[in-house]
Amino acid sequence: KIKGVIFDLDGVIVDTAKFHFLAWKKLANDLGFDFTELQNEELKGVSRVRSLEKILEWGNTSLSEDEFIKKMAVKNDNYLSYITNLTSKDILPGVSRIIDFLTEENIPISLGSASKNARPILKKTGLIEKFHAIVDGNDVSKAKPDPEVFLIAAEKIGVAKENCLVFEDSVAGVQAANIAGMMSIGIGEKDVLHEADHVFSSFEEIEIDFIKKLLTT
Ligand code: G6P
Ligand code: MG
Repeated sequence: KIKGVIFDLDGVIVDTAKFHFLAWKKLANDLGFDFTELQNEELKGVSRVRSLEKILEWGNTSLSEDEFIKKMAVKNDNYLSYITNLTSKDILPGVSRIIDFLTEENIPISLGSASKNARPILKKTGLIEKFHAIVDGNDVSKAKPDPEVFLIAAEKIGVAKENCLVFEDSVAGVQAANIAGMMSIGIGEKDVLHEADHVFSSFEEIEIDFIKKLLTT
């Protein structure tokens, strides 16, 4: 029985995953190499530090500690320039309908994101008030697939892990939910997110009755 719901942010609530991709791609290109969209699946849900480590491995490149920190800052500035004009219009289709339903049913909602930009994004999109708890990249030390972020998110809303449902668009995030012992719903492609308990191509595909059943059985 589901008694609490945890949402990932990027690629689940807002379509910011594409902006992370563009910003990382530019960073790699500036260093003289490129990576594919398939490789990018491995960056989804992963912390900023871990993402840059992976990209440098792909390019067989290394940076001094100073350069590493500088590159992360440049990437983030670039990313922020893409999201300055984010509004409620950028909430992905079908998301608000599910959030509103959960709110009516008094189901606590928590955020479980690796991003350090989570709060400003929730503010810009007008969603911050809907969340009973927010756990983001500023609160955790271990990157997904480590379950830390979801375990804290569950604890903050006072729901046992086996009663939590996680919405995720990333492989690492689905794995984190599974390791945490929570139900996972993947938002994206079935063949990428095959480890999830259920996969939908978008929130628009999710029937309210489907969620209703999870809350009662
Ligand atoms: C999310 C995204 C990743 C991003 C990470 C860190 O999990 O899926 O693409 O790299 O958060 O985000 P930040 O905004 O802190 O750089
Ligand atoms: Mg995500």
